Amino acid sequence: MKSLFFTGKGGVGKSTLSAAAAWQLSEQGYKVLAVSFDPAHNLGDIYNVELGHKKKKFTKNLFLQEADLDTAASVYISQNIDILTEVYSYTRAFNLDLYFKVLRYSPGVEEYASLTVMEEIFRTETDFDYIVFDTPPTGLTLRILALPNITVTWIDRLRRIRKQILEKRYTIHNISGQYIEGGVRLAYEEKDDRVIQKLDELWKRYVGVYKTLKSDSTHICVVFNPDYLSLRESQRIVTGLKDLQLPLRVAYNNKFRDDLAPVADEVEQKLLNGAGDVELMRVPIHDYVREGAYKFAFDVTAPFR
Ligand SMILES: Nc1ncnc2c1ncn2[C@@H]1O[C@H](COP(=O)(O)OP(=O)(O)O)[C@@H](O)[C@H]1O
Ligand SMILES: [Mg+2]
Repeated sequence: MKSLFFTGKGGVGKSTLSAAAAWQLSEQGYKVLAVSFDPAHNLGDIYNVELGHKKKKFTKNLFLQEADLDTAASVYISQNIDILTEVYSYTRAFNLDLYFKVLRYSPGVEEYASLTVMEEIFRTETDFDYIVFDTPPTGLTLRILALPNITVTWIDRLRRIRKQILEKRYTIHNISGQYIEGGVRLAYEEKDDRVIQKLDELWKRYVGVYKTLKSDSTHICVVFNPDYLSLRESQRIVTGLKDLQLPLRVAYNNKFRDDLAPVADEVEQKLLNGAGDVELMRVPIHDYVREGAYKFAFDVTAPFR
C-alpha cells in the first residue's frame, strides 16, 4: 500500500490534485481510497457526491471519505476515558465524564484524533493500493505528522515510570501481611498490568505510523503556485518536514502558465534549494471537463507508479 499526502497553502490546488491523482490511479486499475482531513472539506464537491466520516464507494476502484475531526475527537476522548475508568476502577478519583465536554476543546485533541483516524486507515485499509490524503492547513498537518515521534518518546518514558511502580508494588507484595477480604489486589507483574499492556499497544501503533510515514511507500507532496504568496507557506512545509526527518518526494508547481516561467523558475529554485531529492512537476492551468474537477487531463500520477 502506498500513501500520498498533498500539502500546501489554501487555494493552491491540494484538493484538486489529490482528487485528480486518486481518480487517475483508479482508472489505471489500482484500488484507491481518497481521504480528506481538511475541516473545510471539498472532496465531495469535487466529485459531486455527499460524503461523510465513513468511506463511500464512488466507482469499482475508488472510495471516498471526509474524515470528521469532531466525530473522531469525541470517539478518541471517550475511548481514553473508558480505558482510564477501567484501569483505575478501584479509585473514584477519576470522574472524567465531568471533563468530557471540556476535553473536547483541549489543545492537541484534534491532532490526536486525526492521527488516530490515519493510524486506523493504515492498519485496516490494507486492501487498497493507494491512500490519498488531502491535508488540513499547514500548521495542523505538521503537528499531526510530528505526533507519532513525540508520542513514542512519551510512551517510553511512561513505561519506565510504570515499571518502577510495579517494582515497588512487588516489594510491598513480598512483605507478607494480612489480606483484607474485599480489598483490591494490584498487579505487580508486567503480564498482569493493564497499564503496561495499554502502553505497549499504543507504542506499537505509533511506531507503526512513524515507520509508515518514513518509508518509501509514503509520498509527501507539496503543492504551490508560480507566485511568491504560496512560496512562504511551502517553505514552512519543506523546513517542517526536514525538522521532522520526513521525506518530501514531489513538488507540484500547479496552475503553471508559460508566461509565468521566469517567476516559476525562481520560486522553484528558492523552494527546493537544499530540499533533497524532490521530483518537480509543473501542472498547467487547466480548463475542466464539465462532469467534474477530478477528471483532470494532465497526468499527475507519474511520480507514484
Ligand atoms: N491546475 C489548475 N488549473 C486551474 N484551476 C485550478 C487548478 N488547480 C486548482 N484549481 C482551482 O483553484 C481553486 C482552489 O483549488 P483547491 O483544490 O480547492 O485548493 P486547496 O485544496 O489547496 O485549497 C479551485 O477553484 C480549483 O478549481
Ligand atoms: Mg482543499
